[in-house]
Amino acid sequence: MSFPELQNDVFLRALQRQPVPYTPIWLMRQAGRYLAEYKEARARAGSFMGLATNPDLATEVTLQPLERFPLDAAILFSDILTIPDAMGLGLSFAQGEGPRFAKTVRDEAAVQALTVPDMGSLDYVFRAVTQIRHALSGRVPLIGFAGSPFTLACYMVEGQGSSDYRTIKTMLYQRPDLLHRILEVNAEAVAQYLNAQIDAGAQAVMIFDSWGGVLADGAFQAFSLDYTRRVLSQLKRESNGVAVPSIVFTKGGGMWLDQIAAVGSDAVGVDWTVNLQQARQRVGDRVALQGNLDPMALFASPEQVAAEARRVLDDFGTVSPGAGHVFNLGHGISQFTPPESVVALVAEVHEYSARFHQAGGANQA
Ligand code: CP3
Repeated sequence: MSFPELQNDVFLRALQRQPVPYTPIWLMRQAGRYLAEYKEARARAGSFMGLATNPDLATEVTLQPLERFPLDAAILFSDILTIPDAMGLGLSFAQGEGPRFAKTVRDEAAVQALTVPDMGSLDYVFRAVTQIRHALSGRVPLIGFAGSPFTLACYMVEGQGSSDYRTIKTMLYQRPDLLHRILEVNAEAVAQYLNAQIDAGAQAVMIFDSWGGVLADGAFQAFSLDYTRRVLSQLKRESNGVAVPSIVFTKGGGMWLDQIAAVGSDAVGVDWTVNLQQARQRVGDRVALQGNLDPMALFASPEQVAAEARRVLDDFGTVSPGAGHVFNLGHGISQFTPPESVVALVAEVHEYSARFHQAGGANQA
């Protein structure tokens, strides 16, 4: 497959800890309900899955935030729950509510019946990736993504989001064999899914381990990190001779940063509870870091947003070219965020960081 030449590779360079002219920025959930044009497209599609399963609409929505803000990466418009949906669990998103599955995977019979879905049933995702790559015309790189095996299992076992993860944790303590079998199937499915996205044109991939952080120490390593490692070990590392870097984000995983940094990804995403300077000392030159402004900081004034952005950049440490920082939020952007805050954020990250990157390392952290 051939695509238009990439014009802005700052994001890909930062992930690989190569020198950059400024700190690149993109935002988790950058295409979403805080944009009026997203809500309009979603209404046209009729439902979230109507948007996600239509490659034309998925392309349109993916590009929306890039039309407004000079972001340094695009992320495929889809959801992590496409895999369990393809396993036959029946995904739906009711307006104003989170995801729900018609079927859950809780007992021995349901676990035994679980299989890796045929990737053909996810073809709408891969077609969207290819179409978005063409529509981007090389402006910025396209990120593909999937949920971690454990985070997918949370939804498959609970059937929806949860405040305490009681059902999956009961399985973890009572029948760890059942949970391990779900995670094995998920790891294989996620690896095939990400590799198919890479084949379709994804230029970087991210694994969202949104709920690994709810696990006890020990359980996190055995039920989340080990399966993320299994996924990473199967991933294609390049496409047509160009590196395809990977990012692992464990929300609430700050205390396990050293172990996450050793899992085999190029970069580690961190939430806002982590101090970037300390994080950098802990991971050394093993990985790049992505993060970590509190999404709620975007409810302050534009001047305050800019000050918070400088604080995150200063924490990471001004310069040392090649150190590897991708600016992001510590979790997804809130649907209530004023878009003007994003304007202020992106401008400040670019301007402030360009000053110290151009200083050429004079200001070593
Ligand atoms: O970042 C992007 O712009 C790309 C698109 C994207 C979505 N979901 C679109 C979406 C990505 C990367 C995701 C990942 C995702 N989905 C995660 C991991 C990241 C995280 O937030 O921790 C998780 C846990 C999910 C599962 C999921 N999907 C939930 C819990 C919800 C409901 C939450 C909410 O905000 O209402 C969704 C729905 C969803 N996925 C929306 C979007 C834009 C909102 C749905 C709508 O339009 O009604």
